[in-house]
Amino acid sequence: MRTFLILFFLAFNPNSEAQRHTSFNQGWRFLKADAENAQRPDFDDSAWRALDLPHDWAIEGPFDPKYNPHAGGLPFYGVGWYRKRFTLPATDKGKHVAIEFDGAMSNSKVWLNGQELGGRPYGYIGFSLDLTPHLRFGEPNVIAVRLAPEDQSSRWYPGAGIYRNVWLDVTGPVRVARWGTYITTPEVSDAKATVVIRTQVETNPLWSWVPNLVTTLLDATGKPVASATTLGAGSLEQKLTVPKPQRWHVDHPYLYTAVSRVMRGKEVLDRYETQFGIRTVEFDKTKGFLLNGRRVKFQGVCNHHDLGALGSAVNRRATERQLQIMKSMGVNAIRTSHNPPSPELLEFADKLGLLIMDEAFDMWRRPKIRNGHGKYFDQWGETDLRDMIRRDRNHPSVVLWSIGNEILEQGDAEGWKIAKRLTDICHEEDKTRPVTAGFNQSAAAIKNKLADQVDIPGFNYKPWEYAQILKDHPQWTIVGAETASCVSSRGVYHLPIEKYEKHESLQLSSYDVIAPRWAYCPDPEFQAQEDNPSVLGEFVWTGFDYLGEPTPFFNQRGANDWPARSSYFGIVDLAGFPKDRFYLYQSRWTAAPMVHILPHWNWTAGQTIPVMAYTNADDVELFLNGKSLGRKKRGAEPVTIPVGPNVSDSKTFSSKYRLQWQVPFQPGTLKAVAYKGGAQVAMKEMRTAGPAARIRLIPDRNAIAADGDDLSFITVRIEDKDGNLVPGADNLVRFKVEGAGRIAAVDNGNAATVEPFQAEQRKAFSGMALVIVRSERGKAGRIRVAASSDGLTSAEAALTAR
Ligand code: GAL
Repeated sequence: MRTFLILFFLAFNPNSEAQRHTSFNQGWRFLKADAENAQRPDFDDSAWRALDLPHDWAIEGPFDPKYNPHAGGLPFYGVGWYRKRFTLPATDKGKHVAIEFDGAMSNSKVWLNGQELGGRPYGYIGFSLDLTPHLRFGEPNVIAVRLAPEDQSSRWYPGAGIYRNVWLDVTGPVRVARWGTYITTPEVSDAKATVVIRTQVETNPLWSWVPNLVTTLLDATGKPVASATTLGAGSLEQKLTVPKPQRWHVDHPYLYTAVSRVMRGKEVLDRYETQFGIRTVEFDKTKGFLLNGRRVKFQGVCNHHDLGALGSAVNRRATERQLQIMKSMGVNAIRTSHNPPSPELLEFADKLGLLIMDEAFDMWRRPKIRNGHGKYFDQWGETDLRDMIRRDRNHPSVVLWSIGNEILEQGDAEGWKIAKRLTDICHEEDKTRPVTAGFNQSAAAIKNKLADQVDIPGFNYKPWEYAQILKDHPQWTIVGAETASCVSSRGVYHLPIEKYEKHESLQLSSYDVIAPRWAYCPDPEFQAQEDNPSVLGEFVWTGFDYLGEPTPFFNQRGANDWPARSSYFGIVDLAGFPKDRFYLYQSRWTAAPMVHILPHWNWTAGQTIPVMAYTNADDVELFLNGKSLGRKKRGAEPVTIPVGPNVSDSKTFSSKYRLQWQVPFQPGTLKAVAYKGGAQVAMKEMRTAGPAARIRLIPDRNAIAADGDDLSFITVRIEDKDGNLVPGADNLVRFKVEGAGRIAAVDNGNAATVEPFQAEQRKAFSGMALVIVRSERGKAGRIRVAASSDGLTSAEAALTAR
């Protein structure tokens, strides 16, 4: 045995600093149906569709209300198969090979060369399978994956398929384990930081020699700043000191890299990299959340995982863009509602400086929906939670673990037991971050002691209870885990300003006052956060619109409200265009002077139009065609807005966060000038638009990488001859893309349309549309994007893929 192992090891030729983690996304075949014997290596899949991952089969549609509209009305359930043929060099014999799925939606089963290896019910958690025992080196192998997402398994659009990245991990027999490093920074000062790294080195117990673990810390420029060497295997702890550390902060997202090398003499047997940040986090019941000793109030949003028209197929640029748009609104925190996010989301949160509430579940044992994860909770819940924490605990962005959202066990006398078990698991896996959960049944969660089991009780839609909860529980630190749930459609205004109701147009007014009965517009939360400064902050439902949950047009099975098929909750619409509320939050959450006015300025002469202004300046003067309509001081004349009975008995709320003028409409120019300390600091102008005359294309980036993954998001505007956006324009725009790119998807942010996302045309919605252009792998060159529409002057955009 001993000799065999030594030979085995010699056969392994360590390519010292080789990549151990490589993409396994390319060259798959896919069938959207069940197929007998498709796990067998000799199965004929030549007629299956060839594609690269990540892939979401459901986003291709067609929309149909028979697929639950609350989950997007897209075909997300049923059986799908993926197969891939691959050969590893004969010289790899002796290596350890594992396949890592970042997530597959859902109920996966995986076979290698006909041998079943395992799988995972929960689509949001990654899993790794050891291929080594069944691999044939130097010969073709076949991996087969069967997915079986179920009807009635999600309250929102989950997507379907191998929608996250897949990796091949090829290592020597001695290696750092999967997620094998755990890095903490227990002491940080200006002079130095103590970095503690626990590394799991896997080796073979039959070997007599012992490897060295050499850990080197690199700063952001790649310069080594500390190093430690430890002889041993198994779980090893190293303590390193970084002099004059650069701290990770939301406004200074500085990252270090730990390079772990497992060595025998001078030979590098394995090399493993971990990005991390040096920072301290504290949660204090009076001072709130302290990052590096500085208070940071959560200006957070909840987001689901889909990427709009791209569905849930993970894409780096689309993920980064969503976070950049959120940051530009002043967001500093994201709650990954209600499931573990993609690894890419955390990578970008680390890089951009966003804080993360990393959430595990939308349900425990008791199902919110018939085939939800509750069915698998007893068998898998603990593993899912541990895996989430082990995967994510080195990210400086992650500051809170959430064990669940609006868990139905809140109402159970025994529910606290599960809460305790899950909190204990989080503490076992990571002692540096507190545990939270979002309670909507606050009274029950408190009475049944569920709320006592988490470190930071989170409350959903309860701003009017914060004061009492804090009075009753002076030892608690609490957070608005889910707030607002205001609904609106970008660019749509209904008059008079109305309270919550369904509108026959399937659109909702953007005066930012409408919310379902359990919810409220942004303003009461602003007020409650101000009145209760120790509350850690809020996580608004939601930053982006998402597929599914078209509340209030919400028919579980019926088609009355069809084609409403995606949410109206987003502060930003599905296409990534800000709604008015974006500026209301910006006025609270950012310091750079801004002013925004609504609605548009195309009305009928004589109509009296409520004009609202959102600003972070002191006061705003409004002008119509050069004539002043008066200067108003922020907060001096609260604006009365309609709200639901949960907010006030009078069904009105007096908001000091908005300014309002009643303006008899005249066509022309409406201008808002904002002043701070008497000086003009910001200005916004809106002109009455004439008839639609031309198209304008505005790419977010003109140069993209020729990797087949990178995207340019091109905003399409329908303008009059003078360049004013035409507010109600819904012209059909046709796109043509030539050269080194192709159309990835189109959208317009309309939540109530069943036009396909995969198309070469799109109607504008409230004057705007979006075309997303994707590069092609290995094809550099120019990309010409043309847009045309009957009766309008066409437009072109020139991009480069390199
Ligand atoms: C909450 C729930 C969210 C979403 C939201 C809509 O109660 O946690 O997932 O459904 O309501 O307002």
